[in-house]
Amino acid sequence: MTSTTTVLGSLLEPTTLAGLPLTSRFVMAPMTRYHSPGGVPTPEVAAYYRRRAANRVGLIITEGVLVGHPSAGHHTAVPRMTAGPAERGWRRVTDEVHAGGGRIAAQLWHLGSAREAVDGISAWTPSGTPRGTHAMTLADIDDLLAAYAGAAGVAVRAGFDAVEIHAAHGYLLDEFLWPHTNRRTDRFGGTPAGRAAFPAAVIRAVRAAIPAAMPLVVRFSQFKERDYAARIAESPAELAVLLEAFAAAGADVLHASQRHFDDPVFPGSPRNLAGWARHLTGLPSITVGSVGLTRDFLGSDALRALVGRVDAGEFDLVSLGRILLGNPAWVTLAAAGRLDEIHDYRKSDEDIYY
Ligand SMILES: Cc1cc2nc3c(=O)[nH]c(=O)nc-3n(C[C@H](O)[C@H](O)[C@H](O)COP(=O)(O)O)c2cc1C
Repeated sequence: MTSTTTVLGSLLEPTTLAGLPLTSRFVMAPMTRYHSPGGVPTPEVAAYYRRRAANRVGLIITEGVLVGHPSAGHHTAVPRMTAGPAERGWRRVTDEVHAGGGRIAAQLWHLGSAREAVDGISAWTPSGTPRGTHAMTLADIDDLLAAYAGAAGVAVRAGFDAVEIHAAHGYLLDEFLWPHTNRRTDRFGGTPAGRAAFPAAVIRAVRAAIPAAMPLVVRFSQFKERDYAARIAESPAELAVLLEAFAAAGADVLHASQRHFDDPVFPGSPRNLAGWARHLTGLPSITVGSVGLTRDFLGSDALRALVGRVDAGEFDLVSLGRILLGNPAWVTLAAAGRLDEIHDYRKSDEDIYY
C-alpha cells in the first residue's frame, strides 16, 4: 500500500543525529520494564531491543538505567550502569542491536525523591521535603557528578552509540529544574540559571567521560509524573536559559518529552516542546507523545501534520513509546501498509515482554 509509505515519508529516510548515522527518524522512547534481575540485563533484554532495532527503529533509547550510587534507585529489577555483570549484560545488548542494524543510547537515571526508603537510605532531593527526604549537600553533589561520569564510562565500554541524561518527569535532575522542588538558596537554586546549574554540571561530567564525537542527548519535560500541569519554564525566555545551559555544558540533542506531541507549549505559537528546543538552541530535537497509539493514526491528518513538521525543520526525530511495547515491528508493518498486523496500544501491552 503506497499511501501509508508516502504518509510516513521522510520519517523512513536515513538521517544523522549529531554525526551518528541512523536508518530512520524513528526513536524508541525509554521505557522502564523491570526485566533485569539484580540490575543486570539478561539475554531476553538484548533480544527485546534487537527486535525493535531490526524493524527500522533508527535509534533505541534504553529504559532508565540507574547510575552507580545507592541513592539512585531501589528496585532490584531495574538495570544499572555499573562495571562487572551489568556492563557485560549491556555489551550483549549493544552487540545485538548493532547486529540488528540499529543504534542505541543508554538513558542514565537517578530517581530523586521517587526512590523509596526501603533499605535505610532516604530519597535524595535538591532541598529536602516535609516527607523527610535528604537535602543534597555540596559533597553529595560532587559524589553524584562522579557517579554519572562513572556510569557514562561504563556505557562507552559496553558499546553504546550515545548517552541520554534523564532530566525529565520529576526525577532528581528535574527536581532541580522545577522551582516547586528546588528551594535551595545557593548557586544550585533560585534563578532559572541556578536551577539549571546541577543538571548542567551532570552534562559536563558526562561529556568529559565520553568520546567528543559521541552524541549526548538530554531529556527534559514541563510535566511531572505526579503533576501533569507542572512547568519548569513559564516563558520561552525562561526555557532558553535552561536549554542554553544544557547546550553550553555539552548537550548535542534535546529530547523534549510531552504526553501529546501536538500540544502547543506557550500561548501564541503552535510549536511543541521539541520545536521550542530546536528554535531556542539550534540543536537537533526529538519529539514524543501519543504517536501511533491507534491504527487510525496511520493515514490520518495527524500523521501528515507530524511529517510536515519534520520536513519544515521544527524538530528532527520522532520517539515511539507505548505502541512499540505490543508491536515491535510497528515501523516495518506501517511502512509496508500491513495495517491488519498492527494492533492498537492497550494497557495490557505493558505486561508482555517480547
Ligand atoms: C511503561 C513505561 C515506562 C516508561 N519509562 C520511562 C523511563 O524509564 N524513562 C523515561 O524518560 N520515560 C519513560 N516513559 C515515558 C516514555 O518514554 C514516553 O515518553 C511516553 O510513554 C509517551 O510516549 P508514547 O505516547 O509514545 O507512549 C515510560 C513510559 C511507559 C509507558
